[in-house]
Amino acid sequence: MKVVLEHIAAKQATFAKHPFFAELRLDRPIEQIAAFAPRMAFWVMTFQDILRLNEQMVQDPNLKRIARHHRDEDTGHERWFLEDIAKLTGGPLTVSALYGRASASTRDAAYQLISEVYRATDDRLRIVLVLVLESTGHVFFGRTAVLTNAVQNAAKLKYFSEYHLHIEEAHEMFETKMEEQLLSIGMSPELEAQAIALVDRAYVSFDSMFHGLRDELYQRRDKEAAQRQAEQAAAPAASTPTVVKPSDSKEKSSEGWSEAIAL
Ligand SMILES: [Fe+2]
Repeated sequence: MKVVLEHIAAKQATFAKHPFFAELRLDRPIEQIAAFAPRMAFWVMTFQDILRLNEQMVQDPNLKRIARHHRDEDTGHERWFLEDIAKLTGGPLTVSALYGRASASTRDAAYQLISEVYRATDDRLRIVLVLVLESTGHVFFGRTAVLTNAVQNAAKLKYFSEYHLHIEEAHEMFETKMEEQLLSIGMSPELEAQAIALVDRAYVSFDSMFHGLRDELYQRRDKEAAQRQAEQAAAPAASTPTVVKPSDSKEKSSEGWSEAIAL
């Protein structure tokens, strides 16, 4: 199993350099989360089903305990996501956010990932699947926590904030103990090759899902730039230059919230 765990760690390090994360800026954090969050809803919900189905299918009692523990740890986190969506967009999640064209890449990736639950023929592969999902989550929540820390009202968010990250990190303490157990799991070279192929397929799915989310950030930025240009064009040519006061930045930040709500 050691080789597989090392492979997951290497893939995780590459995923941390995904262009989506490079695109995140600290200047308008909440607006950025509001832009991509509804587009990842399908995955947040599917993730819960993957953990549930995967655990159901594990036969080995020791491995089932590990699968159950992972599922228990993440139970209810989708409710935090739904609460955050309501705060970010001013309303509940819509069906079009789940099934609209803008979410197609999220759905495609989610279907590919759920297919792994049915494809696995060995309990050890099911544990590998859980570990891959966790590895991407740790990168993602680490980055969104940095974003939400940049704003005062971050405490309002749960799924995307440090609140979630700390809970995920607390899981890691258990996982360190569990890792010893995982390392002792024997795997034939054939099974190891299957596990590595699974990890690679899962990361391909995440790569395309996050490219889709990055597109949302691009579109958002283009829209904002066009709006700024239109505002500048409409402003009188000979107006006096405005002196930016500290209070202006506060106004800008509350403007951002109303923009996010209009999504
Ligand atoms: Fe979680």
